[in-house]
Amino acid sequence: MSGPAPGLAVRLGPLELPNPILTASGTFGYGLEFAHLADLERLGGIVTKGLSLTPLPGNPPPRVGEVRGGMLNSIGLQNIGIEKFVADVLPGLARYPARILVNLFGYEFDDYARLAARVDPLPGIAAVELNVSCPNVKRGGMEFGHDPELLERLVASVRRATGKPIAVKLSPNAGSPVAVAEAARSGGADILSAINTVLGMAIDPWTRRPRLHTNRGGLSGPAIKPIALRIVFDVARRVGLPVIGIGGVETVDDVIEFLLAGASAVQVGTALFRDPRAAEKLVAALPGRLAELGAVSAADLVGAVRPWGEA
Ligand SMILES: Cc1cc2nc3c(=O)[nH]c(=O)nc-3n(C[C@H](O)[C@H](O)[C@H](O)COP(=O)(O)O)c2cc1C
Repeated sequence: MSGPAPGLAVRLGPLELPNPILTASGTFGYGLEFAHLADLERLGGIVTKGLSLTPLPGNPPPRVGEVRGGMLNSIGLQNIGIEKFVADVLPGLARYPARILVNLFGYEFDDYARLAARVDPLPGIAAVELNVSCPNVKRGGMEFGHDPELLERLVASVRRATGKPIAVKLSPNAGSPVAVAEAARSGGADILSAINTVLGMAIDPWTRRPRLHTNRGGLSGPAIKPIALRIVFDVARRVGLPVIGIGGVETVDDVIEFLLAGASAVQVGTALFRDPRAAEKLVAALPGRLAELGAVSAADLVGAVRPWGEA
């Protein structure tokens, strides 16, 4: 191979990343817990575990289970709360070049804007990612991300609260991801993250008990990659916002597939449970694979899929 190594830097609207590999929310703690196991310097970004206004204990166990092709979880959004994160974790993260995206969620409409306003003045935070797969307690538990009209207003309220880039994380369990993504754009979102976990279930035949205490839970890992790719492909083409692809990324060719489908970056989640270095290994492998494929940069491949039926 000759010539310079393919460039890894990518831009997603107002968000620039040194490379397109991030860790996914809830699978890498708040980042610092992994500092002794992984090389945080190499990552393009770290998306924190979901943060709420007040700390939450999460669901009772069992709340994770392995299934063929991935895992099920119902952690229940356990977290230390935004104030403890800002006071105790964020200063430690400032040492690393990886961009920090805070994943925010709430159970009431105003929670999201209040969280965004809290992080708005903090220079260590590159962007906010909204987890809208949460039940709205005021609307009988319907998820914010399932109702395009409500989502548009929600994102608009966050837009008024912060000048930071806003990523909205799409749920595969919503009726039409494109309609939801268009609503997010209308509300002022800068980026789409796709996808969150797929609702699933597993049962132990001996005890006849579901493997999760909540009976149902979120499926993640390689089993959901084709679903994620389809949604990335659809929203990247139809909505016109930069996309972060999430779902079953394990190998460098998984990254390439997401780039081709239209993602400008990817998040690695379940793969980190087996190997905490999985994300940084992808960063290391990517330039060689891009060169083999004749790409001069990662950005070069974004949306470069050649769908059948088109020239
Ligand atoms: C144990 C676990 C906890 C998660 N917690 C969150 C969370 O707090 N907020 C969120 O938006 N997504 C959360 N997710 C979803 C992941 O960020 C990601 O969207 C999903 O797992 C698909 O990616 P993967 O197949 O690479 O794991 C969680 C996933 C797992 C497995």
